[in-house]
Amino acid sequence: MILAIETSCDDTCAAVLEPDGRRALSNVVHTQTEHSRYGGVVPEVASRAHLERLDGVVQKALDDADTGLDQIERVAVTVRPGLIGALLVGLSAAKGLAYARRLPLVPVNHLEGHVAAAYLADPTIEPPFVALIASGGHTALYFVTESGMTLLGQTLDDAAGEALDKGARMLGLGFPGGPALSKAARGGDPARYDFPVALKEKNSLDFSFSGLKTSLLYKLKALDEGDIQEELTHLAAGYEGAVVEALTRKLLRAADLHEAPALVVAGGVAANALLRRRLMEEHERRGMKLVIPPPELCTDNAAMIGAAAPNTLAVPFPDYLGLNARSV
Ligand code: KG4
Ligand code: ZN
Repeated sequence: MILAIETSCDDTCAAVLEPDGRRALSNVVHTQTEHSRYGGVVPEVASRAHLERLDGVVQKALDDADTGLDQIERVAVTVRPGLIGALLVGLSAAKGLAYARRLPLVPVNHLEGHVAAAYLADPTIEPPFVALIASGGHTALYFVTESGMTLLGQTLDDAAGEALDKGARMLGLGFPGGPALSKAARGGDPARYDFPVALKEKNSLDFSFSGLKTSLLYKLKALDEGDIQEELTHLAAGYEGAVVEALTRKLLRAADLHEAPALVVAGGVAANALLRRRLMEEHERRGMKLVIPPPELCTDNAAMIGAAAPNTLAVPFPDYLGLNARSV
């Protein structure tokens, strides 16, 4: 079996998967709540919290899978991109566990992990496909083939999740902002306020969310404190709608340009109910294959890292001792 570890940001995660990486036997996520009072992830706090939690999380993943370390044949771990201190906690633990049992280590790219969540969600999906990864740190479109991922376009400023988090903060909602904004938007009229959908005219596959943020800032400045409370649900609906529309349009444009037979959407923002609904409608209309993993496989988790292991070159014992993590 595969033991997978993910600590690239603020979730401490471990999972156990079957040897082919196509089924998770356990998937434990400990979400660090320490950051909510700061309104964003504090790297040093994240590293320390990973250090405190990771042993327990790995043990729970083994227990939940009804197995022990002696049954593990490979250790997969996120090595990039992410917060360097946070990554190093996971990588060091993975090295230690693998070394103790003379196992190979599989160094996984976090973004390839997000895409691999699709293989867990739908075992019939195979490359080629176009993938949209929308998370707190990344927003990018890829053309995925057997031999790897080619970047088609990416955000020129904020990631989609970051834009949602910042918008939520401006509206006085909680962190992480994505879910908080969705909740606040319920029942709101997305058309009441006119928010810009970034780069909709241009024939590019890049994203930009900074104009949207500025637009919200000006709308808030123009409103009295009392009115903001009254208008909150409409503002949230408009803002969320603009992010979802930008993601949807660019993904469909990429699908058309590259004649992709299938689409995969992954990353924390793919947990968004409005985005999921919008894409389901489009996919029914167009009749193409669409895989959006269930929300718990979209946000950071270790099962997706284990799912990327079969497509990643393993480093044999003990060559990985010198292996390093990278922030980009
Ligand atoms: O993939 P992820 O868990 O971590 C990163 O690698 O960044 O993504 C986290 C991002 C956050 O910005 C969060 O606000 C957003 O995903 N997110 C959502 C939802 N759940 C998480 N955004 C919209 N709707 C959601 N339900
Ligand atoms: Zn992520």
